[in-house]
Amino acid sequence: MREGSATLIRREDYLAPAFWIRTVDLSFDLDPAKTLVTSKMQIERNSAVAHGPLRLHGEELNLLRVLINGESVSFRQEGHELIIEGAPDADFQLEIRNTCAPEKNTTLSGLYTSGGSFFTQCEAEGFRRITYFLDRPDVMAVYTVLLRADKAKYPVLLSNGNLLESGELENGRHFAKWHDPFPKPSYLFALVAGDLVAREQRIRTRAGKDHLLQVFVRRGDLEKTEHAMNSLIASIVWDEARFKLPLDLERFMVVGVSDFNMGAMENKGLNIFNTSALLASPATATDADFSRIESIVAHEYFHNWTGNRVTCRDWFQLSLKEGLTVFRDQEFSMDMAATPSARAVCRIQDVRQLRAAQFPEDSGAMAHPVRPDSYVEINNFYTATVYDKGSEVVRMYQTLVGRAGFEKGISLYFERHDGQAVTCDDFAQAIADANPGSELSTRLDSFKRWYSQAGTPRVQARGSYDAASQSYTLTLKQTTPATPGQDHKLPQVIPVALGLIGAEGQALPLQLQGEATASGTERVLVLDQAEQSFVFVNVVSQPVPSLLRGFSAPVVLDDGLSDAELLTLLQHDSDAFNRWEASQRLALNRILAAVRSGSALQLDDAFIEAMRAVLRHTELDPAFKELALTLPGEAYIAEQLDVVDPQAIHAAVEAAQAQLAAALRDDWQAAFEACQISAGYAPTPEQSGKRALANLALSMLVLDATRSGDSVWPGRAYQRFKDASNMTDRLGALSALVNAHAELAEPALARFHALFKGEALVIDKWFALQGRTPERDGKSFARVKQLMQHPDFTLKNPNRARSLIFSLCMFNPAAFHRTDAAGYVFWAEQVLALDAINPQIAGRLARVMDRWSVLAEPYRSAAREAVARVAAKADLSSDVREIIERALA
Ligand code: ARG
Ligand code: ZN
Repeated sequence: MREGSATLIRREDYLAPAFWIRTVDLSFDLDPAKTLVTSKMQIERNSAVAHGPLRLHGEELNLLRVLINGESVSFRQEGHELIIEGAPDADFQLEIRNTCAPEKNTTLSGLYTSGGSFFTQCEAEGFRRITYFLDRPDVMAVYTVLLRADKAKYPVLLSNGNLLESGELENGRHFAKWHDPFPKPSYLFALVAGDLVAREQRIRTRAGKDHLLQVFVRRGDLEKTEHAMNSLIASIVWDEARFKLPLDLERFMVVGVSDFNMGAMENKGLNIFNTSALLASPATATDADFSRIESIVAHEYFHNWTGNRVTCRDWFQLSLKEGLTVFRDQEFSMDMAATPSARAVCRIQDVRQLRAAQFPEDSGAMAHPVRPDSYVEINNFYTATVYDKGSEVVRMYQTLVGRAGFEKGISLYFERHDGQAVTCDDFAQAIADANPGSELSTRLDSFKRWYSQAGTPRVQARGSYDAASQSYTLTLKQTTPATPGQDHKLPQVIPVALGLIGAEGQALPLQLQGEATASGTERVLVLDQAEQSFVFVNVVSQPVPSLLRGFSAPVVLDDGLSDAELLTLLQHDSDAFNRWEASQRLALNRILAAVRSGSALQLDDAFIEAMRAVLRHTELDPAFKELALTLPGEAYIAEQLDVVDPQAIHAAVEAAQAQLAAALRDDWQAAFEACQISAGYAPTPEQSGKRALANLALSMLVLDATRSGDSVWPGRAYQRFKDASNMTDRLGALSALVNAHAELAEPALARFHALFKGEALVIDKWFALQGRTPERDGKSFARVKQLMQHPDFTLKNPNRARSLIFSLCMFNPAAFHRTDAAGYVFWAEQVLALDAINPQIAGRLARVMDRWSVLAEPYRSAAREAVARVAAKADLSSDVREIIERALA
């Protein structure tokens, strides 16, 4: 039974807590079936708040006793609250004793077991599933934690901070006592107990301090932790160099767990990671895995300052830490990439991700501002908007005040707020105050609309050249579409980085009317009105504008450029991002034209020759070529349409792919051969770029061969699959066979499974690949249903559920959207099945139907019916209920 009713929590209702908890002494007697928790809290009234009862949060707990200053006290329990009316005015000690049942906790929130060890996940509101507490981020306490457990089963006992003492107890038990000197909110608490081993590294930082770094994993996984350790060290070095933010702990621990709802968690000094975001070896992880691990390790480490030293006042401010920390990890990855081209590749990948996940969110039922105004279940708001759009907002601060100005702003932010729980406004104010007179501080209030307005702004740009006066007038207009609950939007502050390209492809000097001289060939215009014109003078010839360089703002740009102009940008733009963007626009225009007209797609020679030129280019990096030659994703294409027919989109993409495969066959072969690597495996940008292009080329060659009945390339792919010395090449070859529906796909899949039996993360890839196989005669969908019965499949492990179910429902539109509605029926069943186990994961799957209302018939009605079916179920979790109700609103 679900307790408590789902109430809407509003940002404007924020009240400071009536009490502060200053210190907490926790002791745990760890037992999987029944863990005993004793909590002694030093509490004082918040003098700024009127008198009232002490209300503590608690969920799924068994309360044993409540003492104030050692005496029993009367209390009552209401829903998820423990209410004590008679709390003293003077400071007091509250002692609570309760039990919880880690083994039965399938939600993976609070204290739970995985593979026979204990782990915690407390963000956002999991601590209340461990003991009664003021479980809100503005209550910060100093924690001392005593762990007791069976020594043979749980030889390693960890919690936040420093180890004070450890030793033996009776009956084969032992203990460890930890103390974290930094006051922290409860969501940053963690404990781990289990049979784990650690990779250790001692480092000395610039400041001359010594630190112990440890990565804890299950016994067999130790050799897969080297990359994570290297990433951690690189992160520490980077944060000190770039932002002057040092490691503030003697010991920094990272732990891997295979049952985890998210990627990882930044608990103070004790980060806990999904093994998928931590473990890597060349044989089991792809280049993409290596780079994801690097960025997640960095992300969690960076949270130590942006999130932990300065935390969020309330959960509406989540982007304060998440947007900022994603920005920091993206900057880190770019700095690690070293060459300008590799930096651009990072940026392109981040933008592709934003467009695939955040843009649809911003135009669907769950559209919400970066700082939401209300929520029912905070777990539903760990979203692409809060994280990725939030990061773009932080990037715009940097664009507006410059890199040095931004670093000054960050310093001021920590000077002002270290040790505090603050808001997005506090962050904005610090950056602005550190940069008086800047483009940001002169329009801070309107800039902050990025936090309050949902929806992706549309920017229309039109240029007109006047040869007589040698002037070029660029007119920019902006609108933001209505989103649920927000009908009217005000203009936003949009930094538009741009350059002008001349007839010979040269970058033209930029001089605005009224300026004495030109200043450079790239600059940032600030659009902050509904419509503005900018006049460039001394423009010698009709230019092609290169707008929104580096994706300088998270908007949809309509620049009205012709094919010829896009081809100029593809050839000559000095901005690699816009060069890539031109390739995508050329492809998108063709796909959209086919979808809109309902006719079969036929690629023209101009496009094919442009793609051939990219592929043959002698100076472009393989990594860039791979990105430029990859067609826009189906979700992004769907975004451009008012009415979405997923099958029509898929058919157009498949046709474009087949034609590119055939028309460029010799060039694909040449690219494939040119990208072979003789050196030993390293997940460097250089090597991974080559592997990416080789894999794309191979998939094109196999696709084309399968269509024409030629067996040479499928045979080569199979051979490469068998002989591969790393997972990137092996999975690339396997995917080429599977996605082309080649005959050799079946034996390859069987062989892959046999080869990696027992490697959970690789078996996840095996499921995911099949879940994403492009539909052919209903077979892909049928296979997913059949794989649900596979002995290796389980709904209980989030990675496994994601690998099969999410792959189908989120990343395989042609298999999912069926005219017989079977995909939607399957979705509804799985949402309900998951909801009984793990509401957070179920809520995430429920999001698949965010955009049902833009689907074409018959999909639209069938999708709505499936959503209604879920809604009709009594007893839904608040997670799923909120998503479903928003979808139906
Ligand atoms: N703060 C974590 C991170 O982004 C994510 C934890 C989210 N947890 C949750 N239950 N929603 O690094
Ligand atoms: Zn984070």
